[in-house]
Amino acid sequence: MSPTLTVANWKMNGNRRFWSELTQSLKSEIQYIETNMVLCAPSAAFYDVSRALEGATNMALAAQDIHAEDSGAHTGDTSAEMAKDFGAKFTLVGHSERRMEHFEKGDVLKAKFKQALNHDLHPILCFGESLEDKKNDQTLTVLDGQLSEVLDGVEVLDGDAFSLAYEPVWAISSSAGSLGREPSEDELTQVFEFVRQKMVEKFGETVGNSIKLLYGGSVKADNVAKIISNRYIAGVLVGGASLKAESFLAIARAVAAKPN
Ligand code: PGA
Repeated sequence: MSPTLTVANWKMNGNRRFWSELTQSLKSEIQYIETNMVLCAPSAAFYDVSRALEGATNMALAAQDIHAEDSGAHTGDTSAEMAKDFGAKFTLVGHSERRMEHFEKGDVLKAKFKQALNHDLHPILCFGESLEDKKNDQTLTVLDGQLSEVLDGVEVLDGDAFSLAYEPVWAISSSAGSLGREPSEDELTQVFEFVRQKMVEKFGETVGNSIKLLYGGSVKADNVAKIISNRYIAGVLVGGASLKAESFLAIARAVAAKPN
């Protein structure tokens, strides 16, 4: 896998024509950009995106969520197997919108995370504090809890098996009460130092140091260079700015230019 990840989260946006055209535009340029591009598409888009991705090398389809079980009476959900069948290689787990709108936490997220690993889907575990947590000076306590409730007791032998995406809810462009800005350099370093340390304690030096740490929340073409220059950050998770080929490609180029 490339040392960097540039991840799009299209959320519940688009239609068949939009998904196909956007994927084609990205595909025609990504071969010249040295990063792994991951498209977290709504399940309704899997067919069109997977067709448009045929022959692409450094680009992959991803689910935005998977169910914790293999199959069954779960109206509206998508299984790991279904995502895999369309060629998905990744899935988000625990995006803040799933946490808020679908009340996902703790055991459910742990089960989804394990389900992804068991089906050879690379989970990108999202975590992040709310504005209220931040105001109450609870950031690291909240992040610690969110990571522990999913990762405790999970055995991982390879740092490439999963990634972590720090997405402070207050920085996500569309979230209620968003401050509409990315964290400062100091805020990012404080969180990522803490997370790296935690991963090393949990999984040992080799695995803990190789897990990719991503940042998401108001990433745009004009702030990505600063974000990616943080030594802990190996990639970005992009919502709004991933819906236009031009801005998402500009972001991918900046990520690819990260000094090793
Ligand atoms: P944003 O969304 O880039 O629009 O802030 C990020 C996300 O929610 O993953």
